[in-house]
Amino acid sequence: MLPSTEFDTSFQELCDRMKKISRRKAIGATGLAVGAYLSGKFMPTAGASSQVANNESEHVEWKHVKLDPEKVAARAYELYSEGSCMYASFKSICSSMAEAVVDSNPSLSKALRDFPCHMMKYGHSGLGGQGSLCGALNGAGAAFGLFIKEKSTVDALLAELCSFYESAKLPVFKPENSKFEPMTQAISRSVLCHVSQTAWCRRSGQSPFSDFRSDRCKRLTADVAAMAVNILNRYADNATVNNNLKEKEYQRCLDCHGQNGEGIKVSTKMNCAPCHTMEDHYE
Ligand code: HEC
Ligand code: HEC
Repeated sequence: MLPSTEFDTSFQELCDRMKKISRRKAIGATGLAVGAYLSGKFMPTAGASSQVANNESEHVEWKHVKLDPEKVAARAYELYSEGSCMYASFKSICSSMAEAVVDSNPSLSKALRDFPCHMMKYGHSGLGGQGSLCGALNGAGAAFGLFIKEKSTVDALLAELCSFYESAKLPVFKPENSKFEPMTQAISRSVLCHVSQTAWCRRSGQSPFSDFRSDRCKRLTADVAAMAVNILNRYADNATVNNNLKEKEYQRCLDCHGQNGEGIKVSTKMNCAPCHTMEDHYE
């Protein structure tokens, strides 16, 4: 059953209907802060976990330092034209890091400058145009993986980034003197390129093949890079991950369908709403 096109309200409907069948105590749904990445207010910190030094290579210590999210965002926006979303989000973080550690960690700086960032072009438009995972997220995830060794930590940081992507009204980033104004904002609800783009195209009335849509994705890439830096900065400060994303409304779906649930088990952390409705329960 396809969900309704009213993407801002349909999830609330789902939840209301779900309450009727749910035997579990409802978890209070908290609105996620929109565009709060610059202030770092988006995520409360919880659950410290220690960072083991990342000495993968003998010569390079893959340890990140704090960056300015706004500067990285502006760079991501500029880099987009060289190689699209994944390339731009990855390279904006890595090239900024290379500059930031040039004195404190010269071997890392060199490794980052030598890194074949062109490889990240494969991730454009949801992996070579497939429309699957948004390349901006994929690039940020690659950067997380470069600096943080523990898989579970990277998973947790990505859960936070994806939660932001699914629930925030984006894009927020505003380039100077843009001819693409006013820029429509939309809640993508999904980390999938195709779903995310479509949500925006429906809102804006623009074609996915328009220059306007490209600029939307450039700005979205800037937003994702900024949020990724925000998350990395917090981790550089106090090595914390946010294990407290349960305010995500569809966490309730996972209470029944996740690993410890009583329904058919599915292995996903994506927002369910773009693809399922509670109609699925009555067929
Ligand atoms: C109270 C527990 C509960 C909650 C909450 C719940 N489900 Fe289910 N769901 C079930 C049960 C039980 C079934 C029947 C089949 C089964 O055993 O999984 C089902 C069936 C389904 C099916 C159809 C599976 C099939 O092949 O027939 C889908 C899809 C689904 N749920 C998605 C969701 C989504 C999305 C949410 C959140 C919006 C959700 N469910 C919330 C318990 C729940
Ligand atoms: C991008 C789309 C998409 C998203 C997001 C998604 N699903 Fe699905 N899901 C599917 C498709 C497609 C199927 C297979 C349907 C079929 O073959 O009948 C499926 C199947 C299922 C089934 C039935 C599994 C079975 O063995 O019969 C359940 C239950 C389910 N999904 C729950 C969820 C829950 C819960 C979430 C969110 C945490 C979710 N899905 C997110 C697309 C999606």
